[in-house]
Amino acid sequence: MRKKLIAGNWKMNGLKADAKALAADIFAKATPNMPFDMLVCPPMNVLGFVAELPHSGVFVGAQDVAETIKSNGAFTGDVSAAMVKDLGATWTLVGHSERRQYHGETNAIVKQKALNAINEGLTVVICIGETLAERETGKAVEVVRAQTRECVPNEATAENCVIAYEPVWAIGTGKVPTTADVAEIHAAVRDEIAKVLGTETADKMRILYGGSVKPENAKELLNVENVDGALIGGASLKADSFFAIAEAVK
Ligand code: 13P
Repeated sequence: MRKKLIAGNWKMNGLKADAKALAADIFAKATPNMPFDMLVCPPMNVLGFVAELPHSGVFVGAQDVAETIKSNGAFTGDVSAAMVKDLGATWTLVGHSERRQYHGETNAIVKQKALNAINEGLTVVICIGETLAERETGKAVEVVRAQTRECVPNEATAENCVIAYEPVWAIGTGKVPTTADVAEIHAAVRDEIAKVLGTETADKMRILYGGSVKPENAKELLNVENVDGALIGGASLKADSFFAIAEAVK
C-alpha cells in the first residue's frame, strides 16, 4: 500500500511574516498519526526558518537544488543539495515546469539535480508534465514517458524518490484533466519507472498529481488509480484549504 503524500509548493510566496504564520498554522493542525504524509516546500529565503520550527508529522523541503555536483564553490545564486540539507530540510522538488519554462531546465539537468539530492540523502520529488500544445497534438503520454525515462536516476528508490505529474496547462488555471486522462498518464509513468528501476520499485513509488488541486476536486483526483497524492500550489497557501485537500485521503 502506497501511503498518500500531500505536498504544498509555496512557489515564490513567503515573506518572513507570511511564512511564519502559514507554517505555524499548518504545523499546529498536523498530528503525528495522520493517514498520509505531508510535505511543505517554502521558498529558499524562509526554508531554514520554517525547518527550524517544530514540525512533527510534516516534512519540509526545498523547491530546487543546484545542478552542479559540488556542494559549494563559484556558482553565484545557486543553493546546493548539501546547503538545503544543512538548513534542516529533508526533501526537495526538482524539475518543476516553472523551472523548465523560465530557466531552460532540460531532462538531463533535472536528472542531475535529482541525483544530487539523492546523494545528499534528501528525498526528491521529480516533476514532469506536458504542455497544452503537446496535449492537443496527442503527445502527452509520449512526453511524460520520455520525461520519466530521462529524469529518473538509476539511484532512485521508492523511498528516496517521488514523481509528480503536473500538466503545465493545469497549473494555476483552474483546469484539470479528466480522471481518465490522469489514470492514463499515471499508468504510463509507472510503466516507465518499471523499465528504469524494475517493477518492484515501480509498484512502490508514489506518483502525485498536481495542477489546480482544490478541496472541491481533491477526492475525485485522489481516488484515481495510481494517484498517490497531490502536489498543490495555490491551495497550499492557506492551512484550511491545504488540510481540506488532505481530508480527502481516507
Ligand atoms: P496550482 O495548485 O496553483 O495549480 O499549482 C500546482 C503546482 O504547480 C504545484 O507544484
